[in-house]
Amino acid sequence: MGVIMAELYKFEFPKDIKMTRIFENRELLGKLRASSWEKEILPSVKRVYDGELFFPAPYEDRPYIYCSLVCSLDGRIAFEDAPVSTYLARNNYLDKEGGIINFWSLMMQRTHADGAITAAKTLLSEPEGTLHICDSEMIKERINILKKSNKHPLNIVVSRSGTGIPFNHKIFNSLSDENLHVIIATTRKGKERLAQTKNKKFAFVEVETRDDIKQIQELKLLSEATDIKVCPVLVVGKYNEEIDTKLFMWILRQIGINRLFVEAPQYMYHLIQEQILDEFFMDFSMLFAGGSIVAGSRFEFKSNLHPHTELINVAIHKQNFLYTRHRMVYSCP
Ligand SMILES: NC(=O)c1ccc[n+]([C@@H]2O[C@H](COP(=O)([O-])OP(=O)(O)OC[C@H]3O[C@@H](n4cnc5c(N)ncnc54)[C@H](OP(=O)(O)O)[C@@H]3O)[C@@H](O)[C@H]2O)c1
Repeated sequence: MGVIMAELYKFEFPKDIKMTRIFENRELLGKLRASSWEKEILPSVKRVYDGELFFPAPYEDRPYIYCSLVCSLDGRIAFEDAPVSTYLARNNYLDKEGGIINFWSLMMQRTHADGAITAAKTLLSEPEGTLHICDSEMIKERINILKKSNKHPLNIVVSRSGTGIPFNHKIFNSLSDENLHVIIATTRKGKERLAQTKNKKFAFVEVETRDDIKQIQELKLLSEATDIKVCPVLVVGKYNEEIDTKLFMWILRQIGINRLFVEAPQYMYHLIQEQILDEFFMDFSMLFAGGSIVAGSRFEFKSNLHPHTELINVAIHKQNFLYTRHRMVYSCP
């Protein structure tokens, strides 16, 4: 049986939701504002976020990179019995509106991004988990004010092995007029394995070095093309089993990904290990989830050598949600 092409989930946020900001790192906010390409705060952000939001310009050789997690109070990133991250917020029965604000915050982060990263395990746990913007006002702001050329960030699925990616997932099967563009980034070994996949056709683009300008142009065209029947696959670098992260980020910057939003927990930690994650948004829903689903369990930082963060701003909703934005700090005195 063939896969049915699907509509993306739509949701219009109520106009009266709002978080309450309780802390601002004014000096840091000033620096972020001064180095941003944007001069205007989006009307939806003014209404809901209770304060400013500016992202700095990208680096010359990579995008500005941020990520986001919603956590239970006991640090879990999903319930064991239903591992869909949004349930942590949506099923906070003491504060339904606080849960909607968490979802708004996720959309706000996507609205500002040119590209967004996900990975196999998140896709497997979250069948509706396409990295799109569900609210029409935010799409309009993205296009009219932030001057983005696409309704949604480019969806990028990362995989070293090329295995375990669910190709029947909505992310690979949305209707073409939804304008959701998707690419896979993988290794040489990943390419070999993907090439053997039945029922899915790929357009492989191999970029070994920064000199492969023609291939990068081809990738850009494929990532923007509508109505293509094949999934573009970027094969990064010369390694068989690992993606060359520096080259990968450089390629993304070349194809217009100035701001990159990472939504795959393992990949967040990989970028922290590489010391190139710039910011972390972390929202806490005041409930206990227990169980074993945590972020970063395969990564270990040393007691005397670990990354820190500095709070940029903190907000609350009633007494049930905490919304935090952090700047990563990799070097300590
Ligand atoms: N609370 C939240 O905000 C939130 C957000 C998102 C997801 N989640 C939850 O998190 C769970 C899944 O998270 P997860 O951390 O287990 O998995 P994940 O990050 O979604 O996916 C893991 C996959 O990422 C790929 N990967 C990891 N490092 C990579 C690298 N350096 N380069 C390329 N690919 C790389 C690996 O595929 P290869 O082995 O092929 O390399 C790995 O199998 C789900 O339950 C989901 O619901 C929660």
